[in-house]
Amino acid sequence: MKPMGKRALALAVLMLAASGALAQGRPGAGWWQLPAGIAPPPVPPGNAMSAAKVALGRRLFHDADLSINGTLSCATCHDQRRAFSDGVRAHPGAHGEPGLRNVPSLVNVAWFTPLTWGDPAQTTLERQALVPITGDDPIEMGMKGQEAELARRLSGNPCYRKLFRKAFPETRGRIDLASVSRALAAFERTLVSYDTPWDRARAGGDPLPEAARRGEAAFAQCAGCHAGPNFTDLRFHRLPGGAADADLDSVIDSGRDAGLARATRRAEDAGMIRTPSLRNAAITAPYLHDGSAPTLEAAIARHGLALSPARTAELVAFMGELTDRTITTDPRHARPGARCDIASGY
Ligand code: HEC
Ligand code: HEC
Repeated sequence: MKPMGKRALALAVLMLAASGALAQGRPGAGWWQLPAGIAPPPVPPGNAMSAAKVALGRRLFHDADLSINGTLSCATCHDQRRAFSDGVRAHPGAHGEPGLRNVPSLVNVAWFTPLTWGDPAQTTLERQALVPITGDDPIEMGMKGQEAELARRLSGNPCYRKLFRKAFPETRGRIDLASVSRALAAFERTLVSYDTPWDRARAGGDPLPEAARRGEAAFAQCAGCHAGPNFTDLRFHRLPGGAADADLDSVIDSGRDAGLARATRRAEDAGMIRTPSLRNAAITAPYLHDGSAPTLEAAIARHGLALSPARTAELVAFMGELTDRTITTDPRHARPGARCDIASGY
C-alpha cells in the first residue's frame, strides 16, 4: 500500500481533531439538542463537557455517600420523576433538620444565573453544588469539614477511581470536593428540557388546545417576570405576601426566611425572591419558595392579581402544556447501574 501523502495525513489529523472536539462536547456539538432560537448554555472555561465527566457527575448525583450518614443524595431531593424536584414543602436535611425552602426543579439550570430562590452569589453550578454538600444554613448533606472523609469514601470505590482519572486527566484524577462539584455541574448541564407541547406548537407542530391558547394570551401579564423560553427573568421580585420586614435582624436570627435579604442582609431585599421557571410546573407541586402553595391555582392567587377563576383555569391549562414527558424517564439521567460505564448516552 502506498504510504499516506502529506496532504492526506494533514486531513486525517484535522478530522481526528474535529471528532475530538465533538467528544469534548463543544457547544452545539451533541450535548444539547436545542430548538431553533435557543443558544447552547455557557460552560465555564475550566470545566469543558466530556463523556467521562458527565458519567461521573451522574453517578455522584445519585450517590448518598455524598451525605454524612448516607441518607441523602442530590436525587433524593431532586427526583427525576418530578422534573428534579421532590413534592414536599421543604425537604429535611441529613439529620432531620427542617428544610428552609422548597426544592426547585433542575431542568434547564444550565441557563440560570443566579441560582436558587435568593442568593445572587450563586452564579455557577460548580459553586452551587458545594452548598448542599457542605452548607450548614440549613444543613442538607452535612459534609462541612468532612472533605477528607468524602475523598476517602469515593477513593475506596474502583469505579470512582477510574471515572475521576478519565474525567480529570489534568490532575491525574485527584478526588476532592472541587472535582466532585465540577462533575456534578457537567451532569446538571445535560438536564435539558425543551420537548413540551408548547415547544412543539411553537415550532409549527400541533396547536395547543383552546383553553391553553386562551391561557397563553392571558399569560402576557405574567411574561414580564416569567420571561423568555424558561419563563423566568432570573431577577428578584416581591409578591404581595412577601413581607418587607423592617426588623431584618430579628427575622434572620429567628431562622425565618427573609428571601434575598438572607444573603445580602439589606433591609430593602427582604421578601425578594428570584422568579422561578414555570417549565414542568404541573409536576413540581408544592409551589413558592416556602412550598406554601399546594396547587398552581394557589400559587397564582398569591400574586394578588385579582384574576377570575375562569382566567386562572386558563392559565393553569397553559402551564399544563409546559410539561416534558421525556425528561422524567430519560435513562441518561437515571441512577446508573453497578456497571462502571463511561458512555453517557450522548
Ligand atoms: C435536602 C434536600 C436537597 C439536597 C440533598 C440537594 N438539594 Fe439542591 N436544592 C434544595 C433546595 C431547598 C434548593 C433551593 C435553595 C435556596 O433557594 O436557598 C436547592 C437548589 C438547588 C439548585 C438551584 C436551582 C435553581 O433553579 O436555581 C441546584 C442547581 C441544586 N440545588 C443542585 C443540587 C445538587 C447538585 C445537589 C447534590 C450535591 C443537591 N442540589 C442536593 C434541596 C436539596
Ligand atoms: C412581578 C413579577 C411576577 C409576575 C408579573 C408574575 N409572577 Fe409568578 N412568580 C414571581 C415570583 C417572584 C415567584 C416566586 C414567589 C415566591 O416564591 O414567594 C413566582 C411564582 C410563581 C409560581 C410558582 C412556581 C413555583 O415553581 O413555585 C407560579 C405558578 C406563577 N408564579 C405563575 C404566574 C402567573 C400565571 C402569572 C401571571 C398571572 C405570574 N406568575 C406573574 C414573579 C412574578
